[in-house]
Amino acid sequence: MRALVAGGAGFIGSHLCSALLEKGHSVICVDDLSRGRKESIGQLLENDLFVFYCLDISRLEDLKRIFEKEKPDYVFHLVANSDIQASAANPEIEYRCTYTTTFNLLQCVKMSGIKKFFFASTSAVYGDKKGIELREDTPELSPVSYYGAAKLGSEALISAYSYMDGLQALIFRFPNVVGPGLTHGVIYDFIRKLEENPAELEILGDGTQTKPYMYVDDLVKAILFVMESGKDGVSLYNLGTDGCTSVTKIADILCEEMDLRNVTYHYTGGKTGWKGDVSRFRYCLDKIHSAGWKAQYNSDEAVRMTIRHELGKM
Ligand SMILES: NC(=O)c1ccc[n+]([C@@H]2O[C@H](COP(=O)([O-])OP(=O)(O)OC[C@H]3O[C@@H](n4cnc5c(N)ncnc54)[C@H](O)[C@@H]3O)[C@@H](O)[C@H]2O)c1
Repeated sequence: MRALVAGGAGFIGSHLCSALLEKGHSVICVDDLSRGRKESIGQLLENDLFVFYCLDISRLEDLKRIFEKEKPDYVFHLVANSDIQASAANPEIEYRCTYTTTFNLLQCVKMSGIKKFFFASTSAVYGDKKGIELREDTPELSPVSYYGAAKLGSEALISAYSYMDGLQALIFRFPNVVGPGLTHGVIYDFIRKLEENPAELEILGDGTQTKPYMYVDDLVKAILFVMESGKDGVSLYNLGTDGCTSVTKIADILCEEMDLRNVTYHYTGGKTGWKGDVSRFRYCLDKIHSAGWKAQYNSDEAVRMTIRHELGKM
């Protein structure tokens, strides 16, 4: 298979590129390195089956040239603005990085007659549905962030292209994903803050924000497991793991692993870390479990393993 991985130099994308290469697939990685890092694909560049293009995917004509030259047969779309707080101040970022990139990739897929498409969606499409277990068929999706809106808009585009052009699309709504090579998120932020000042830690919100954190290896295995299902239309799955971890618990695990005993936590207050954040959610995972896949690591394990990796202890 010739897989085009859009966003392949990012945190999750680089793990996916490695896994696809290990399976013997050719990988065409396209990323503008706005948030991804060349180092995360450094070793892959030595592989003859790997090629990298540094391109802003919102530039459709340049993207078309890559499709014409490389002739992929499966497209994995992991491009997005992953800094949700940044787009709260400037929604145009989501329009360009998250929504337009979906449109452009689908245009290229249509032009090239490609039939296989994977999309990295998110729990943010549901919005803030307090107290209910989120199922793939939960009605009245109402995102509360521009990021969630651009992802839901992307899902809608994929639905239409799937119907109009016979695209077999696989959409996973990821929870929080963690693991080696993080580029953003609460663990990434806390480590940097504590390295700067090991005596105090600022925690956004009241620390009770509680979500499932999934280990990136589990996520990549799930993609590889389901990607060849070859079902017509759109196949949509919540993806997640057992349990949830609160923000304060993440801070506690981190202090324990860094051997810091007297850190004072300063909470900025409020139920959410920032406007547009969803402080709690819980997934129903029956559908992906029925497909025969289950995560190996629960949420607390994923958090601890990530911290240990980032601290160089694993
Ligand atoms: N990490 C999570 O917890 C999480 C949760 C839910 C969904 N997701 C989704 O999974 C995907 C991957 O997330 P990640 O955590 O690896 O984020 P990431 O920021 O590390 O990866 C995204 C990549 O897209 C690239 N990119 C952004 N705009 C681009 C553009 N216009 N043209 C070309 N490349 C561009 C960035 O440089 C980056 O390498 C994203 O779509 C994200 O929305 C991630």
